[in-house]
Amino acid sequence: MGESEDAKRLEELWAGEFGDDYVARNDEYAARNAELQRGRLPFWQARVEALQPANVLEIGCNVGGNLRWIAELVGAEHVAGIDVNEGALQTAREHLPAADLRRAPARALPFADASFDLVFTTGVLIHQPPSELPTVMDEIVRVSRRHVLCGEYQAPDIEEVPYRGQEGALYRADYGRMYQERHPELTLIDQGFLPKGDGPWDDLTWWVFEKPAG
Ligand SMILES: C[S@@+](CC[C@H](N)C(=O)[O-])C[C@H]1O[C@@H](n2cnc3c(N)ncnc32)[C@H](O)[C@@H]1O
Repeated sequence: MGESEDAKRLEELWAGEFGDDYVARNDEYAARNAELQRGRLPFWQARVEALQPANVLEIGCNVGGNLRWIAELVGAEHVAGIDVNEGALQTAREHLPAADLRRAPARALPFADASFDLVFTTGVLIHQPPSELPTVMDEIVRVSRRHVLCGEYQAPDIEEVPYRGQEGALYRADYGRMYQERHPELTLIDQGFLPKGDGPWDDLTWWVFEKPAG
């Protein structure tokens, strides 16, 4: 399969029944675990305090499991999200009517250069075909004015992980190193790990990068 066909295959997977099932599981889980979901707030409080973003864009925002907390911190009118799954976006819009939530693929972001102080992914680069990562990372860096954050499953070398009977749908990699190799102009300013434990995260390794001023 060619590179862009592979990207389209995964986008169609997430836009269709597979993605809808993920949204239904997410919604049901959130309804049963409201307090647990709120456990994402301290991480975003710390990032917003450190980075002071005036506006924030999430790539692959799903039902808004990050954006609803970030909206509490920076104001819903200053948050934006894109996703390929329309059902997820509809749920996110119910929580965040003032936010700019659009259906778009990560490889072609519908925003001008340097539109957002902070642009981030959590658990989304892991679902991109490796051949597409350079394009997706270029887009994220392009629309960021100051900071890029990614929180993903980490492994020293790229490896595929079996995922719900789908081939080529989930990977682990050193996404932080990939950003730095692809964009040496970025400075790594912070990093950490969010263990699964009993909390709302899922063994995510996160990195924050800063773009050069101007
Ligand atoms: C595992 S979920 C993570 C959701 C959210 N970031 C979080 O941390 O709760 C992955 C999300 O990314 C979206 N997604 C996957 N590939 C995408 C792509 N190429 N462009 C835009 N969204 C994508 C999926 O539809 C899904 O909502």
